Amino acid sequence: MVSSSPSRLCSLGKLAIVLSLLSGACGINLSVSSDGGNASSPLLYGFMFEDINYSGDGGIYGQLLKNNGLQSELNAFAAVGSGTIAVDTENPLTSTIPQSLRIDVAEDASGVVGFSNSGYWGIPVDGSVFQTIFWVKGSFTGDVTVRLVGNGTEIEYASTVVSVEAADDFTYITTDLPTEKAPDGEVYYELTVDASAVAGQSLYFGLPQLFPETFKSRENGLKPNLANVLDTIKGSFLRWGGNNLEGNSEDQRWKWNETIGPVEDRPGRQGAWGYYNSDGLGLMEYLYWCEDLGLAPILGVWAGFALQSGGNTPFTGDVLTPYVDDVLNELEFVLGDKSTTYGSLRASYGEENPFPVTMVEIGNEDNLGGGCESYAERFTAFYDAIHAAYPDLQIITSTADPACLPSPVPEGVWLDYHLYAVPDDLVADFGYFDNLDRSYPYFIGEYAQSEATWPTMQGAVGEAVYMIGFERNSDVVKMAAYAPLFQLVNATQWVPDLIPYTQTPDSVIETPSYYVQQMFSANRGDTILPVTSDAEFGPVYWVASSNEDSVIVKLANYGADVQDLTLSIPDVTGGHLTIVASDDAAAANTDSETVVVPTEKDVTAAADGSVAFTLPAWSVAVFVSS
Ligand code: AHR
Repeated sequence: MVSSSPSRLCSLGKLAIVLSLLSGACGINLSVSSDGGNASSPLLYGFMFEDINYSGDGGIYGQLLKNNGLQSELNAFAAVGSGTIAVDTENPLTSTIPQSLRIDVAEDASGVVGFSNSGYWGIPVDGSVFQTIFWVKGSFTGDVTVRLVGNGTEIEYASTVVSVEAADDFTYITTDLPTEKAPDGEVYYELTVDASAVAGQSLYFGLPQLFPETFKSRENGLKPNLANVLDTIKGSFLRWGGNNLEGNSEDQRWKWNETIGPVEDRPGRQGAWGYYNSDGLGLMEYLYWCEDLGLAPILGVWAGFALQSGGNTPFTGDVLTPYVDDVLNELEFVLGDKSTTYGSLRASYGEENPFPVTMVEIGNEDNLGGGCESYAERFTAFYDAIHAAYPDLQIITSTADPACLPSPVPEGVWLDYHLYAVPDDLVADFGYFDNLDRSYPYFIGEYAQSEATWPTMQGAVGEAVYMIGFERNSDVVKMAAYAPLFQLVNATQWVPDLIPYTQTPDSVIETPSYYVQQMFSANRGDTILPVTSDAEFGPVYWVASSNEDSVIVKLANYGADVQDLTLSIPDVTGGHLTIVASDDAAAANTDSETVVVPTEKDVTAAADGSVAFTLPAWSVAVFVSS
């Protein structure tokens, strides 16, 4: 590497520019080799998801009514008209939703009576044909009116009437609800009946639900705007887990078998992020999410360790056995033939064929919070049982810390490594995977910039530098995922997040970090190409790769100075350049302003075959040859 590169000479004035031009191109010169290099993992970029920041309930899960199972008392519900409402445990909807919403109506009531639900800090009414579902019980025959109405404005965005014949048992009702698009999320759900028809009585409602038209029209499916934005990233896998898999206690762990089947048979649970999870987004919904977005599922399984143990975890020895057995049942549910006990349960829920699960991660961050000492034993118990039953499954540890792992780690196992760091530290870790023990493949199950409210441009460049660092090593770094993925801006436990949103219809805040993920993931090579340069890494970083159509060069400029760049790539005459940049390192897209957007242009090679362009301050660029 030259110590005084042309780019540095260029900054010294006119004479230096003349000298540097005589000695070669001004700026950084990169020569990309057309062969050699290492293979790149086809799974490299993907997603990590857990219900944090109301990213499942209130987020990507399509159901829009909050606390619809009434597990959090009357939160989000209010009485409408002259009735009063209460949580009623004498008239449970099911044994797993052991309550219903009771409306008591006075003898002399008039007008309408019913209830409203405020949604998850509002309801995004996107103009599609919604569906509402509820159960009703009582002595009532007549019309039920369901409306979506503006808070304060009382503007009606939807109204439908459904005839109901209620009885002593709960009756299931579903109806379409055509909507007009609302300008914001300030909308509530209202269900009413004629008060005189139920005067002096009580009516009971169970598990009211409201869905927009879902992504790919899946029943109990995903919210389309959030699924669509994920689709633009073209990720390869979905890991679901995190702290919310572990739970705050053993009892509050994610229990796969309580997240399957009809939603009225799912009890939900207290999640690890301070709110109740309906688990309407359950195991099969995650697997359909994978199917609909072309993602390889990574099944996280509880490994005998909860976050705030209250003294009873980690579980080791014989205590672990039922949990190991439970994972084998889960795997049979997912992978078993329909002739097996759990495979047939899956088939009874409409899925005759096994799901294509090939990867299982045992636990989450077991290096933290007192999990390390027992992890080798716990991992081994799960590994031995899973590997014996399913030898082809790719098993992943929940930590890469050798102090927590069995020695030796069984052959073929991948190690999950997490990094949340300030931008400078992400950059400092550029070479981390250059210098690691290459005998184990790695999964970077979570990474992101830290200490910012919204992902900043500097943070996104730092992430890009880190990503370039692991993409260069993507023969051993098999997969990597930003975390957390989503954030409902009104109800946040962790910042920054990749894709914030509000309940304004179609709201998606495309952060600089989102753009970097999108640019890097959607443009991938299968082979990493060697690059020679007349400059050292820093402040500009690069990685080149190729697939059968193109050569791709990814670049990051982690600094406030503009950098001139020249690419020489054999047989390439031009290409397409996407750049995301800001002169302001702290620039961020928020719910009130969008200041960073990528630019795109075609670039053509000069007569000598080189492609020259400028990297702006604090920028990330992807060149794809034509
Ligand atoms: O991504 C947020 C949290 O960070 C995850 O739940 C946990 O795995 C990590 O500590």
